[in-house]
Amino acid sequence: MWKTVCLALGIAALASGTSLAEDLPGDPTLGRQLADGVCSACHKVEKGMDEPGRDGAPSFQTIADNPTMTPLAIRFILQSTEKQNMPNLILTADETDDIIAYIRGLHDGR
Ligand code: HEC
Repeated sequence: MWKTVCLALGIAALASGTSLAEDLPGDPTLGRQLADGVCSACHKVEKGMDEPGRDGAPSFQTIADNPTMTPLAIRFILQSTEKQNMPNLILTADETDDIIAYIRGLHDGR
């Protein structure tokens, strides 16, 4: 099961990697694991899931498809202490990069 998921993600990452002008340092596979473990309590983290999660937390697909949610914007949100309904998540710099790579990787140019 995980093998299939990882393989699919790898292909998705490769496919989107070429179409994205961004060259992100993070590892989307690790980002996916973090998203599952840390973010999925509130956000829908799977590709293609559009509906919001707990407390109206936008799905990661919605975030990925939002043109204003650039890697910089996501980084800012994750590091800001001003989040309204989001807990102050303590992520390392690497974890932040991985999550950003995963979220941006969900965007398929729709
Ligand atoms: C306890 C619930 C909760 C957890 C856990 C959580 N979030 Fe959120 N998140 C929210 C809510 C609710 C919002 C909606 C904005 C707000 O009210 O802060 C949000 C908003 C966001 C936004 C901004 C989206 C927008 O369009 O404004 C990003 C990016 C985000 N979360 C990323 C993450 C990531 C990455 C993780 C895991 C590392 C995570 N969140 C974990 C509840 C959560």
